[in-house]
Amino acid sequence: MHELLPDGFLFGASTSAHQIEGNNVSSDWWAFENAPGSPVTEPSGDACDSFLRWREDMDLLRSLGFDSYRFSVEWARVEPVRGRISNSAVAHYVDMVEYARRVGLEPVVTLHHFTHPLWFMTDGGWLADDALDRFQRYLDAVAPVLDAGVRTAVTINEPNILAVMHAIVRGEAELEGGLLGGLPAPHRPTAERLAAAHRLAVDHLHRRHPGVRAGWTIANQAVQSTPDGDAVADDYRRTREDWFIEQSRGDDFIGVQSYTRTIMGREGIVPVAPEVERTLTGWEYYPAALEEAVRHTAEVAPGMPIIVTENGVAVADDERRIDYTRRALRGLARAMADGIDVHGYLHWSALDNYEWGRFAPTFGLIAVDRTAFVRTPKPSAFWLGSLARRRMLVAPQAEGEAPRDDESHDAGATPATR
Ligand code: BGC
Repeated sequence: MHELLPDGFLFGASTSAHQIEGNNVSSDWWAFENAPGSPVTEPSGDACDSFLRWREDMDLLRSLGFDSYRFSVEWARVEPVRGRISNSAVAHYVDMVEYARRVGLEPVVTLHHFTHPLWFMTDGGWLADDALDRFQRYLDAVAPVLDAGVRTAVTINEPNILAVMHAIVRGEAELEGGLLGGLPAPHRPTAERLAAAHRLAVDHLHRRHPGVRAGWTIANQAVQSTPDGDAVADDYRRTREDWFIEQSRGDDFIGVQSYTRTIMGREGIVPVAPEVERTLTGWEYYPAALEEAVRHTAEVAPGMPIIVTENGVAVADDERRIDYTRRALRGLARAMADGIDVHGYLHWSALDNYEWGRFAPTFGLIAVDRTAFVRTPKPSAFWLGSLARRRMLVAPQAEGEAPRDDESHDAGATPATR
C-alpha cells in the first residue's frame, strides 16, 4: 500500500480552458451563457483569469509538489472565425507547454474539452458533412503546440457526456433534476462522429507527432444495481460508458474520470437517500467510485494503460476533500496492487473554477478570489502535493496513530447493491 510510485507515473492536477481562462468569447458556451434567457446561473466571465495568470498557476502547482498539469487548448481561440487561425493563440499554448516543461511539470494537453468555436456549431457541429475536415484543420493548426514538448495528449474529453449534451441541445433529451436523474442516452450519430474524430486524431498524432501518446477520457459512473436492476444497469453502462471505452482500441492509454456512483433499479435510477452525504453538485459523496471505475475500465479494455485524468469532489469544507481523496487514492492503490496498469492520477481540479453554469461547486485544491484573482492553496493542496512529492498514493501511518480510514467503508457498495 505504501509503495513508491513507478517512474513516469503522473501525479498532478487538471483544468480545462473554458473553465479557468475567462473571456472565451468566440466559443459556443460563451454564446449560450450570455444569450437572453440562458438557463445558466451565471456566465463564466473572467473565470480565474488564467489566460493571463497561467504561469502563476503552474508555479504554484510545482511548488506544492505536483509533477504534471493537465490543461486544454481552446479551439475557439485558435480558430475564432472559420478558416482564420490565430497565430497568437497558438503561440500562447506553445508558451504554456514550454514553460510547464521548464518548471518541471509534465504537460498533459487536452485538445477538445466540451467547448467549440461558435461558428463550428452554427455550421452544423459534429454532424456537418465536413466536421472531420474542420477538426483535422484544427489538429494541423496546433502542431506547434504538440511539437513544443507534449508527450501525453487527450483528443476529446468525455465524449460520452458531450454526446449527451448534444442530445439535449437538439431537444432529443432532457435532464430531469440535472445529472441527478441519470444521464439521458447519448445522441448516437454524434457519438459515432466523435469516435471517428477521435480515430482521426489518434492516427494523426501517431503519424505527425510520434513522441505523443494519445487517448481519450471517459466519464465513469461506477454503475451499480439493486438485485432486480441488473438488466437496466447493464444497458445503462453499455450505452453511456462501455461503448466509448471500447472505442479506445489502438490508443496508447485511456483516461478515467470518476466522481460518484449511479445505482440502477428495475425502474431506473435509485435516488440518493436523504441521509446520505452529498457534495455541492448534489452527487453522492462516494470516494470508492474511483477504484470501481478503474477496475471496470480495465475489465472492458483489458491491458489498456489507464491514467486517472479527473477525480475530485465539490465541497465547501476542505477537510472533506482530503478525506474523499485519501479514500479514493487508497482504492486506486488497491487496484494497482492487483496489477491494473495505472500511469497517473490528475486531481480535478487545480483551481476553484467555472462548473458549467456556476462557480458555486468548488472542486479546487486552490481557492481563487474572483475579483483580484488571488490564488490561495487550501490544506488539501499541501496534503496532496506532499504525497506527490513523496511519490506515494498512501502515506504510511505515523507510529501509534489510529487508522484514519475505515477500510470496509472504502471498499464500497452498500448491501443493497452489488
Ligand atoms: C468534466 C469537467 C467538470 C467535472 C466536474 C467532468 O465531467 O470534464 O469539465 O468540471 O467533470 O463536473
